[in-house]
Formats: sequence, structure tokens, C-alpha cells
Amino acid sequence: MQFVGAHILSVDQFDRSDIERIFAVADDLRPYATRSRVTRVLQGAILSNMFFEPSTRTRISFGSAFNLLGGEVRETTEVKASSLAKGESLHDTARVLSGYSDVIVMRHPEAGSVEEFAQASRVPVLNAGDGPNEHPSQALLDLYTIKQEMAGHGKGIDGLRIALIGDLRYGRAVHSLCKLLGHYDDIAYHLVSPPELEIPPGIADGLAAKRHRVLSFHELEAGIHNVDILYVTRTQEERFPNQDEADRYRGLFRLNQAVYTQHCEPNTVIMHPLPRDSRSAAQELDEDLDENPNLAIFRQTDNGVIVRMALFALVLDVAGGVHDHSQPVTWFTAKRTPGSA
Ligand code: CP
Repeated sequence: MQFVGAHILSVDQFDRSDIERIFAVADDLRPYATRSRVTRVLQGAILSNMFFEPSTRTRISFGSAFNLLGGEVRETTEVKASSLAKGESLHDTARVLSGYSDVIVMRHPEAGSVEEFAQASRVPVLNAGDGPNEHPSQALLDLYTIKQEMAGHGKGIDGLRIALIGDLRYGRAVHSLCKLLGHYDDIAYHLVSPPELEIPPGIADGLAAKRHRVLSFHELEAGIHNVDILYVTRTQEERFPNQDEADRYRGLFRLNQAVYTQHCEPNTVIMHPLPRDSRSAAQELDEDLDENPNLAIFRQTDNGVIVRMALFALVLDVAGGVHDHSQPVTWFTAKRTPGSA
């Protein structure tokens, strides 16, 4: 695809070479994310970071990524803090904000809303999650993490065996990740969910059409054998018609160290897009796994900054100029990794 000036709305926009291009730029930007170097390549540029749904990781990491490239960030964090609450349309909001910004990141609770917004925007728009539909940057950082974790096991992405666990119906991170993995060869998907929360048929059919191996399970223990990756997800309570219905699924699948030891291959990697629901009634990913070296959840969140930097660099056409605007970090930073200066 042509990245420069593009909206990033869906992983359907990418082919395998696009994914590899994003990952190559991400690798190149690592010294800036780890505070070995500083770059001002986006000095003077403005990001409008518009989050009309709760977020910790996506909002802060998109903002940090833009700052790390030298740009400035403006934010709105709720519908009620914006003029959408006064009845303004997405069209008008997009026309206005794109006059103030060089790029816009947007999260919104309605599927398709970010695309509708982008159609009226005069600057590139990046989808930070549109309802139950898609979460493209999450899928990219997840795949980037899978690539790193598998490299540590002497493997690549082709031939991956992955169990996707939990609310596969409403989990947009799962939807995007499944589609992205579809570009690779010979993937085995274990889809582990309650019957009512199975992945939408359109996504499952797309994987089967590409001749990947797709198996469905309704019990956790049955689905986590013989895989390289466990990708656990939260019940997306906010997408259910009411809280009582969401509560039916809370705590149904709980991965803890005992279940892991009994049912998983040694060194199976554990991932989660986060937030994990750590309330006692849920505990989908027990904190007794925190000392397990195969738990990759915070390697995922660190990778979120790097991958989002890469998206900005490509869309704003500065990937080739980052090092020209680079200088050493002059302050103390615990993040700097030995030998990375
Ligand atoms: N993974 C993710 O989207 O997290 P946030 O909702 O905190 O942004």
C-alpha cells in the first residue's frame, strides 16, 4: 500500500510486504523508544488524539509515540468533553479537527465510525478501535511481539499455532489479529470461547478460505494443548446489551500457573491485549503468572510505542529522515538498554 497520507482504518489494507515494512521501520526506531537517542523529525507537527471510549495503553502510547518523534499532542478523552455531546456530527468534527492537526488518532464505540470520520477528514486518520470491529495498531503490535517471541524459540510466524481465548465475538483485537495472521502460511487457530461468544462467522470463514487450520473449543483446557501462543482476552462487558448478560461469562475461563503447567507445552508464550480483568470474579489471567518468563504482556505494551511510531513515520513520510534529526539523550534514563546508544 501507499502509506504516505493514508488513513489506517483496517488491517484489510495491509498485505504481507506492508506488514514487514512497518516492522522494519519499527526496528529502526527502537533506539528512540528506548531513550538511547532523541529525534525531532516531527517538530512542529500536531496530533489530535481523540478517544471517545476509555483507554490507557492506546491513548498514551500513541501520544508518547508522537512526542518521541518530536511532535505535539492535543487530546479529548470523552464524548461529554467534546461537542459530540451537543449533537455535532462526526463529519463536522472531522472537518474542524483536521484544520487543527497533521494527523488524527480516534477511538469510538461504534463500528465504522472512524471510517465515517476519516471520509470527512483532510488529514490522515488512524483507527484506535471502533466498537467491536477493528483495532489495527493493536494487531500490529501483537504480531510484532509474536515475531520477536517466536524468534526467541528459533521459529518464524509461518506455521504458528495460536489459541485465542475468551470473548471472541466482541474482541476487536482478536478480529484484527486473526485477519493479519491470515497473510502468513499454515497457521493453526484454536478458537476457545463460550458458544455464544464465538468469533464472527465472516472472520472464521476468511481463515478457512485461506486453508488455515481452524478448530473451535468451548473449554479452556481442551484448547490450550499444542500451541505456541496463548492469546487471552477480557469479556468486553461494554459491548453487551446489559450487565447481567456480561456477568454470565465473567470468570468462565481462568488461566493460572497450575492450568498452564498441566495443559500447555513448556515455554508456551502468554499474551493479552490488556487490560486484564484482575477482579476476583474474573481473573482471566491470574497474577500468579506474573513471574512466568513466558508472560509477554508487558513486552507487548512496550512494543506498542515502537509500532505506533512506525505508523506515524510512514504515514507522515519521515521514516527515511529520522536519523538526520537525531542526537544522544543527555539525561539519566533507566530505560536505556546497554549497548543500544
Ligand atoms: N489494548 C488496549 O486497547 O488497551 P486500552 O483500552 O487501555 O487502550
